[in-house]
Amino acid sequence: MDKLVINGGNPLFGSIEINGAKNAAVAILPAAIMASSDICSIDNIPNIEDVHCIERILSSLGCKIKTGRNSVVIDSTDIVSMDANTNDVRKMRASYYLIGALLGRFKEARVELPGGCPIGVRPIDQHIKGFEALGARVEIKHGCVIVKADKLVGTNIFFDVVSVGATINVMLAATLAEGITILENVAKEPHVVDVANFLNSMGANIKGAGTEAIRIVGVKKLKGCSYSVIPDQIEAGTYMIAAAACGGEVLVQNIIPKHLESISAKLIEMGAQIIEDGDSITVKSNGKLKGVNIKTQPYPGFPTDVQQPLSALLTVAEGRSIINESIWESRFKHVDELKKMGANIKVEGRTAIIDGVEKLSGAVVKATDLRAGAAMVIAGLIAEGTTEVLSIEHIDRGYPNIEDKFKALGADIKRVSYSK
Ligand code: EPU
Repeated sequence: MDKLVINGGNPLFGSIEINGAKNAAVAILPAAIMASSDICSIDNIPNIEDVHCIERILSSLGCKIKTGRNSVVIDSTDIVSMDANTNDVRKMRASYYLIGALLGRFKEARVELPGGCPIGVRPIDQHIKGFEALGARVEIKHGCVIVKADKLVGTNIFFDVVSVGATINVMLAATLAEGITILENVAKEPHVVDVANFLNSMGANIKGAGTEAIRIVGVKKLKGCSYSVIPDQIEAGTYMIAAAACGGEVLVQNIIPKHLESISAKLIEMGAQIIEDGDSITVKSNGKLKGVNIKTQPYPGFPTDVQQPLSALLTVAEGRSIINESIWESRFKHVDELKKMGANIKVEGRTAIIDGVEKLSGAVVKATDLRAGAAMVIAGLIAEGTTEVLSIEHIDRGYPNIEDKFKALGADIKRVSYSK
């Protein structure tokens, strides 16, 4: 078992490269199984546990997988099973994309209900609504989602809530349906657009991803392609916040600044300097920032996945900050951990009221989920003394080489193995 040991107080200077987007990669890899001819060669794949997990699941279905440092080649021409029921499937959220992908290609799938971070109820009713509208029969039996269709037929689907997962999953299935599907009230996140671009590279006909409505003209089959995943908006946002919190000057490279506008705007409002230049952003800060209010919202609003990292910075920002978490009802589990470090936070339902304190003090804390883990690392970096972050398997699910990246910026952080 590993933990991160951080001696806080160092400013951050230098540059870092952001890896490919987790939430794009974990959808693109399952989408690759829809290619019934040729191989998919995918680049800029982040080296994280969630990606390894999906790769193992694809192998268990009969895909041939070759992995490189940040790339993967998938040959799914000879898939032998439509049953995704391994322990890995239960571990992660994105395994639900296998339902849409297998349903699209084979018109049937049997996939265990997905796991993922404990941040809310996480229903999949909108995914099911979409599959049924396309003509599939959906049953939940013994913890599995079983979908079958004689054929899929395009139709108009208006989602009741804006859901990244439902938008992508139904788009996958509709790509290989007969006729035209129009998806409305869809998620516009950069990873939704990236998955649509990937499918189009495979021969799909999808227009409008990133706008209010997605129009999909069904095609008969998809083929392999070469593709490069977009940079990770959330990883980039996390390092930008860390740089602003610790003070210093950090060049965050290999990013798409447009995807980071809501985060940049908040950091500027707090008093940090943000300089955009092509595919990089420089964050300059003296570490003394003002509190702000945020409300998490679907893209282009402030991302829920950055709420927890930002809350760590807000614990030491001057004055009162109010966070309204409108996407996930249980995304404040990290607050008790921040309080162990001296933070002054009150949670009432979906609202956290943070009164900035002079300093946090190092403590033994745990990562309660992936982004909570990033928040605890940032808290450790700004705290006085030593912080130990436990349960970092959550962090490893989504942040490649987090300790090496922070170390290269001048942080005093190391990974230490220990036994319980
Ligand atoms: N929702 C429903 N019904 C559904 C689907 C969603 O009511 O059928 C609700 C959810 O309960 C939630 C809201 O809709 O309140 C949004 O959920 P969404 O479906 O967009 O979330 P997701 O697809 O399960 C993805 C990311 C999350 C990220 C959310 C929101 C992946 C694998 N996960 O989850 O990422 O928080 O979108 O942007 O893409 C993370 O990376 O740390 C993470 C949790």
